[in-house]
Amino acid sequence: MSEVALLQLIGLLVVALGVAILLFIQARFLRVVGFVMIVLGTFALIALSIPQMASLPPAEEKFDVATIKTSADMAAIGQKIFFSKGQCALCHSIGPSESARCPDLKGIGAKLTREFIYESLTQPQAYIYLDYRHEGPPKQYPARMPHINKNPIGLSNNEILSVIAFLQQMSGEPITVSPSEILQPTAAAVALAQAR
Ligand code: HEC
Repeated sequence: MSEVALLQLIGLLVVALGVAILLFIQARFLRVVGFVMIVLGTFALIALSIPQMASLPPAEEKFDVATIKTSADMAAIGQKIFFSKGQCALCHSIGPSESARCPDLKGIGAKLTREFIYESLTQPQAYIYLDYRHEGPPKQYPARMPHINKNPIGLSNNEILSVIAFLQQMSGEPITVSPSEILQPTAAAVALAQAR
């Protein structure tokens, strides 16, 4: 029996007991108790009849190595990661945005080499621009670029390569990340995943 069904059963029993008290017992105090039981039980039943919706975090982006055939496949996965697990869009915009607090990543794949992007993601403090717009007077930003390969974001190397492919693609650059660089899971890792 589900948790909700169990609670509903308890609610029903409380209401039934209240009705029984009102029907068969004359003592004034007990009749008041019975009335309160009916009211509270009905209240609980109404509350429990409202559909229960758990708010779960968005589904984890599955990185299915088998589905990746081309660089464009990588960019497509990278785009999903950019807006979900990678949390990049929390700070970065693609194109000018009033609310963006951090560097606009539009055209970043053309501005930065692939190696520099990789470093920006994994050693974000190695080379810091004070002026992230690359123009005008220096400006501190209100956030820090997190280490993308460590907790809490913790992207795998495959995921980072895909995000770079996406950044290059949306900048209109040729994607220099190739699917052959994707690390294939070892036989042991596959067996472990299936055993779970
Ligand atoms: C908590 C906010 C935050 C998050 C989340 C974040 N970044 Fe950043 N990012 C920054 C800041 C701040 C900088 C500027 C760092 C500096 O001083 O150079 C930056 C810099 C960068 C740069 C270098 C930009 C340049 O012009 O040199 C790249 C590329 C980048 N981020 C990509 C990403 C990607 C891809 C993700 C998601 C996987 C991501 N960021 C997630 C805040 C964030």
